[in-house]
Amino acid sequence: MSFDAPVEALVVGASRGIGAEFVRQLASSPDVKRVWAASRRPDPAPSPDGRVHPLELDVCDAQSVERAAAGVGAAGATLQLVINCAGVLHDGERMRPERRLADVDPDAMLQAYRVNALGPLLVARHFAAHLPRRERAIFASLSARVGSIGDNRHGGWYAYRASKAAQNMITRNLAIELPRRHRGVVCIALHPGTVDTNLSAPFQRNVPEGQLFTCERAVRQMLGHIDAAGRDDQGRFIAWDGQTIPW
Ligand SMILES: NC(=O)c1ccc[n+]([C@@H]2O[C@H](COP(=O)([O-])OP(=O)(O)OC[C@H]3O[C@@H](n4cnc5c(N)ncnc54)[C@H](OP(=O)(O)O)[C@@H]3O)[C@@H](O)[C@H]2O)c1
Repeated sequence: MSFDAPVEALVVGASRGIGAEFVRQLASSPDVKRVWAASRRPDPAPSPDGRVHPLELDVCDAQSVERAAAGVGAAGATLQLVINCAGVLHDGERMRPERRLADVDPDAMLQAYRVNALGPLLVARHFAAHLPRRERAIFASLSARVGSIGDNRHGGWYAYRASKAAQNMITRNLAIELPRRHRGVVCIALHPGTVDTNLSAPFQRNVPEGQLFTCERAVRQMLGHIDAAGRDDQGRFIAWDGQTIPW
């Protein structure tokens, strides 16, 4: 609602979980003209109403990110909203959150960096050209409170924590660089809270009553923060309740 013109949005990691819900809520908003829904295995065709456009994109494959950005460029789109939701915590095989040092697996560590840190950076690298030069735009990356160094009191989860901390540093860098060429862009990191998705499924037992959000609620809350984000929020790490999370 805070954007001047009808919004064109890109959601990366749109296949399921939080990303799929961003696509659903954005596509049902009268203020949104078109949603580019990027995922590794996209739907074969746009939605029947033409508002959701599938885009093939693997954040671990720089060429696929470049190709997807070229597709958006060829359609003449300017993106007022870019939301990175692609992320990984476990893969049901080798990658699972480490309880202790002995659990550290180099391949799993690198895969977490590829998806969680390098992914949003490649999206910025290739899609920046499609942000508006002057008008308001938001570049948001889904981070996680456990990526906060200042807030780390429990340890463990080496790969996820460290890759999200790296993602946070990248968001801060983007908050400095992108507005030089795209004056109205605000870059933020978002913590959605604990949300009922595949990612959190194995760890939901200890979540206090009332603190496990549905995707619908989590996305509604984050869209509120995105809508309200202004220059003062440049490079901020924003929790689901609007609080600033320390780096
Ligand atoms: N759920 C929570 O409680 C929670 C808490 C804090 C932060 N977050 C963050 O929120 C974001 C979304 O999480 P979620 O809960 O929705 O997780 P999810 O349900 O597991 O979904 C993860 C998404 O990331 C996509 N993805 C993974 N690797 C990819 C790649 N190489 N290229 C493109 N897409 C890729 C998946 O696509 P495929 O279907 O192709 O695998 C899927 O769409 C993540 O960044 C996560 O760290 C979640």
